[in-house]
Amino acid sequence: MSDKKKAPEHVAIIMDGNGRWAQMRHRPRLVGHHAGAKRVREVVRACPDLGVKYLTIFAFSTENWKRTQTEVAGLMKLFKRYIRREAENLLEEGVRVRFIGDRVKLEPALVDLMDGLELLTADNDKVHLTIALNYGGRDEVARAARRLAHDVEMGNLNPRDVCDETFPKYLDTHVLPDPDLVIRTSGEARISNFLLWQSAYSEYEFIDTLWPDFTSDVFAEVVDRFGVRERRFGAVPV
Ligand code: FPP
Repeated sequence: MSDKKKAPEHVAIIMDGNGRWAQMRHRPRLVGHHAGAKRVREVVRACPDLGVKYLTIFAFSTENWKRTQTEVAGLMKLFKRYIRREAENLLEEGVRVRFIGDRVKLEPALVDLMDGLELLTADNDKVHLTIALNYGGRDEVARAARRLAHDVEMGNLNPRDVCDETFPKYLDTHVLPDPDLVIRTSGEARISNFLLWQSAYSEYEFIDTLWPDFTSDVFAEVVDRFGVRERRFGAVPV
């Protein structure tokens, strides 16, 4: 088990490599996404033992609409299935679920399920799972700026009070701490528009493992490595 004192409180994950995992097995890409969903369950369950209180996962980006209609529809179906099947387990396991991203473009049946799961688990506090769905960091910042401008227009906010402490209150993540550690699987060293504002001081781990192979043991190893890193937040070590 990891040293809880040094555990990252908030881990964010870019779950990449489902498609390649499926391709390597000569299976359709959606088979990889289904295998990936199983890992989501496993990783969420591993959090309490690893001392991870907040887990944020990138499930669908604002750019993912460019994929084939079959893949997009299959992913939306998978999200609905995940919520239906996992709701009771998540409730019993003390997981509070939140969704971030723009819901406007999502189908109403999925949005209803998302709202329902948020409400169902609202009193939980053991693990805070945030699922980024139709999420893009730039889009989030733009939507936040729009809401802030509206508050200024309505006279609820003085432009002089806009600073790096007030602005994040308008982000989708306003109730969450910033991520301590951002993990990206599958060997790509990019952040792909994920948590742009929030990850300013995060540690990054780019690992070769494809997401469907990301077991709770791999997760524990990455969390352990975080424990030995020195974080300075721009300051000089004392
Ligand atoms: C990236 O792999 C993965 C996605 C765009 C989807 C992530 C979705 C899941 C892990 C499914 C389950 C999620 C939940 C919340 C139930 P990729 O398809 O880009 O892989 P590739 O780079 O190998 O093509």
